[in-house]
Amino acid sequence: MDKIIIHGGKRLEGDVRISGSKNAALPVIVSSLLTDGWNIIHNVPDLADIRTIKRLLSGFGAEVEGGKTLRVNAGGITSCEAPYDLVRTMRASILVLGPLVARMGRARVSLPGGCAIGARPVNLHLKALQAMGAEIDLRDGYVEARASRLKGAKIYFDISTVTGTENIMMAASLAEGTTILENAAREPEVVNLADVLKGMGAKIRGAGTEVIEIEGAKTLRPVEAGIIPDRIEAGTYMIAAGLTGGDVNILGCRPDHLDAVTTGLKETGMGIIPIDGGLRVVGSRDVTSVDVKTLPYPGFPTDLQAQMMVLMSIGGGVSVIKETVFENRFMHVNELTRMGADITVDGNSAIVRGVSGLRGAPVMATDLRASASLILAGLVAEGTTGISRIYHIDRGYEHIEKKLSSIGADVRRVKG
Ligand code: UD1
Repeated sequence: MDKIIIHGGKRLEGDVRISGSKNAALPVIVSSLLTDGWNIIHNVPDLADIRTIKRLLSGFGAEVEGGKTLRVNAGGITSCEAPYDLVRTMRASILVLGPLVARMGRARVSLPGGCAIGARPVNLHLKALQAMGAEIDLRDGYVEARASRLKGAKIYFDISTVTGTENIMMAASLAEGTTILENAAREPEVVNLADVLKGMGAKIRGAGTEVIEIEGAKTLRPVEAGIIPDRIEAGTYMIAAGLTGGDVNILGCRPDHLDAVTTGLKETGMGIIPIDGGLRVVGSRDVTSVDVKTLPYPGFPTDLQAQMMVLMSIGGGVSVIKETVFENRFMHVNELTRMGADITVDGNSAIVRGVSGLRGAPVMATDLRASASLILAGLVAEGTTGISRIYHIDRGYEHIEKKLSSIGADVRRVKG
């Protein structure tokens, strides 16, 4: 298995360009299932999760061509089954459920099963489809859904769910009548999808707020669409710049999607300055410890919690990091501790006492964002860090070692 080897202690300097958002690209690609004809999607990142969704759509019989500009035609799909082998590698596969039932009247999707970052159920997706008239059965580890035509409904999400909101927004776009989603997720990725669905002919109001209203259409037309920049990738490189006392231009990002991150990082002492085409991020010699609480957007993203914890590990005081979105999202703590960090977990909080420096060590990635945190720790650690199980990082960071090398990091991938 491949490994990433990092010799720490290099100051990062220069320009890094942010790729298209994984979490926006996945639902937008899936939304092609709602139409008959060629959809053209620009700025699609080259990632393992994107390859998984392409395989899933091809398995249904859709034609899928291209890379960064992707063309998808789901006109001739014949299968409505998402098999376990693909779904287990990527939970977001559940996104196909709503569009398939809406367009084909049926779908059979493997349940995603356990996940390293907590239970992560899909009950809210299912409850919402039932409210729209779908018959749902759970059999042999699969969700089977049927409906001759979904009907608009008023749906209240008990918990703000990103893929839940996206799944139902897609289903509602082909449903009869109007669907109202309350306590909907407000993430920019939801807005990106809503814009694409509007281009297809659905009438959607309120995306980006807690209440979204979708007026379904009988048929939708194919679109040409773009993917927003990845705010989590941008935040990761911002933290990398801060950790190494660097000076990095984060180009092609959307600063307005990064407000909570920018606020939090500035409190640690980092300089973050808007520039043409992005943000200039300047690290400070002394990192101030701050408390962090993850929240749904527009709050501080859970997908940057592990990376922020690395920065707090070298802070000047004590930081309390509270994870409120997922249970059990602290698997990176043990590995960071092996690199010399002083972190105690108490329920859904981690108490991080700043230390004067981290030390390189062999470590193991456990999930996507945890692996990003280990790379960041390696950048600032003294000596050599070897990270194994890096297939996790390839799910969500495009060409990470190339991008980091181009701004001065000593990082390489070794084939194993
Ligand atoms: C999405 C993102 C992921 C991010 C997460 C939170 C994608 C592809 N993935 O994941 O990177 O970390 O949002 O910002 O966009 N929940 C339920 N029942 C459900 C659905 C969710 O209880 O039916 C709970 C989850 O267990 C979790 C919370 O709701 O505690 C939020 O999860 P959700 O927003 O659904 O996360 P994902 O959409 O899976």
